[in-house]
Amino acid sequence: MGGDKTGARATDESGRERSQRSETAIRLDGVTVDFEEVRAVADVDLRVSEGEFVTVIGPSGCGKTTLLRTVGGLQDPTAGTVRVGGSPPERARRAGEFGFVFQQHALLPWKSALENVVFLRKMVGKSPDRERARELLATVGLAGFEDARPAELSGGMAQRVAIARALHLGASVLLMDEPFGELDELTREEMGVEVRRVWRDQRKTVVFVTHSVPEAVFLADRCVVMSDQPGEIAGVFDVELPRPRDESVYGTTAFQEQVARVRTALHEGYELR
Ligand SMILES: Nc1ncnc2c1ncn2[C@@H]1O[C@H](COP(=O)(O)OP(=O)(O)OP(=O)(O)O)[C@@H](O)[C@H]1O
Ligand SMILES: [Mg+2]
Repeated sequence: MGGDKTGARATDESGRERSQRSETAIRLDGVTVDFEEVRAVADVDLRVSEGEFVTVIGPSGCGKTTLLRTVGGLQDPTAGTVRVGGSPPERARRAGEFGFVFQQHALLPWKSALENVVFLRKMVGKSPDRERARELLATVGLAGFEDARPAELSGGMAQRVAIARALHLGASVLLMDEPFGELDELTREEMGVEVRRVWRDQRKTVVFVTHSVPEAVFLADRCVVMSDQPGEIAGVFDVELPRPRDESVYGTTAFQEQVARVRTALHEGYELR
């Protein structure tokens, strides 16, 4: 990918941190999005390095989905520029470089779970791999549900199909909008560990929107806190926790401290109104 260089942290497999100069995968400069009377996103500057896991948290209606859609080339900014790999995001979108998981799962109701996972790859001209699709469904806990239609699945199960679909796309950038919103807490934690594992193994760049502070901290290399409408960046936090991470991290003091920092910024963001 093209783009400029930014300093970024990275880790080796043992979890030790090292500094490196890495490519900027996503770059937003002065991005503002207006909908008639509403300013949904206000003057956002953000750099996401290749291979980085960034979470975005903020109050409901603060512009998180709009920001993610703008990164993914589904929404034009009113002002400012978005670059993905140095180009406008439409290029990456057409090339199937984005794996979207939307707030609503957007599965095709007439297709089975397995067919939903493979079809998107076909759409972007990549060859589907049914065995790999089966493996991914098993990874998200849906072995045995390959032939089920979305109407036969619970909301959380359908969301997990959508996650498998995004992973099967083989996209380099995952844009995930509250993908665990309908999952129970334990499944959520398990899926968080799983998504981080896939991210690490496959060197993805991830932007992940969530309402949950613990989730925002657990998943992130960096956590972006947005203020209430209009959505501005209220704070950006480097998350210093062991890598790789598993559920045991939730019980540590370091984790609680990071959660407290993000929670405070979130409250201050509300007060910016
Ligand atoms: N297509 C649209 N047309 C008009 N207004 C919109 C549109 N999309 C979003 N908005 C407005 O922009 C603001 C931000 O919406 P957005 O969906 O980005 O918020 P959000 O942070 O994702 O909220 P939530 O956490 O509830 O999902 C809201 O006031 C919303 O009403
Ligand atoms: Mg949203």
